[in-house]
Amino acid sequence: MEVRHSCTSALNIIKRTKKIILRKEKMKKDHVFADKKIRIKPFEFNKEVTNVFDDMLNRSVPFYLESIKRQAQLTAEYYQQGSRIYDLGCSHGNVGMLILDQLKSREFSMVAVDSSIPMIEKYLKRLGRNDNTSQIELVCGFLEDIQIKNASVVLINLTLQFLDIKKRDDLIKKIYQGMNSNGILLLTEKTIHTSKVLDNLQTKFYKTFKLENGYSRLEISQKRDALEKVLVPDTIETHKNRILNAGFTLFDVWLKWFNFASMIAIKE
Ligand SMILES: C[S@@+](CC[C@H](N)C(=O)[O-])C[C@H]1O[C@@H](n2cnc3c(N)ncnc32)[C@H](O)[C@@H]1O
Repeated sequence: MEVRHSCTSALNIIKRTKKIILRKEKMKKDHVFADKKIRIKPFEFNKEVTNVFDDMLNRSVPFYLESIKRQAQLTAEYYQQGSRIYDLGCSHGNVGMLILDQLKSREFSMVAVDSSIPMIEKYLKRLGRNDNTSQIELVCGFLEDIQIKNASVVLINLTLQFLDIKKRDDLIKKIYQGMNSNGILLLTEKTIHTSKVLDNLQTKFYKTFKLENGYSRLEISQKRDALEKVLVPDTIETHKNRILNAGFTLFDVWLKWFNFASMIAIKE
């Protein structure tokens, strides 16, 4: 497995990984925003978040598992032999693990990128348990700096929303230019609505979803404050226009739950 990096200390990751005892971890409960905070700091994908990330995803993203499972299947469907898969904002590899499973009988090449050192460290640790890891190149760096070449599948799952809004058009154009014909872009995002009425409705139902999943009103409100200016969602129309302007000719929203949408674009 090759690891490229632009994060400090990432060099030591492989050495440390070898020492890690490989055992199945129990999902740790997310209490990051449970206690009253005097000052809310901007949200970061740090060690504390990485440790509870699966619980956070499961309780905060409607249909998270369904979405990534289908994305792995779509990847298997559209992957072209000899090309590359890019997972931009790969975190600790939930999508990557499902893709490994889907493509286990095939040769493939995947570049998985994330700027968070704890996330990449955890991804490495998970890959250590898998026999089929040499096909994944982990990059600890910024997705906007990555060259996209010979891509048949590009996944951006819940990550474009964290990128500076001014850089989003260029990223999608770069992806289009580095993609082969019949390649696909899979994009999942939290979205807003152009209609205030519908926006309020989806925000209300999203809050209900989080309350049902055991988050308190305090946790919900402190996390919302931490994410303000860090997670900046677009409307589905903005995503669609950006994707079509980049050159993609086919676009669809294949999964939608109030303010969450999984989209596909195909370069014909
Ligand atoms: C919500 S998580 C993505 C979840 C993941 N794709 C999954 O399906 O489980 C967002 C990830 O994007 C990463 N990230 C945010 N901005 C980034 C950037 N500019 N370049 C690379 N990674 C970035 C964060 O470190 C974080 O791990």
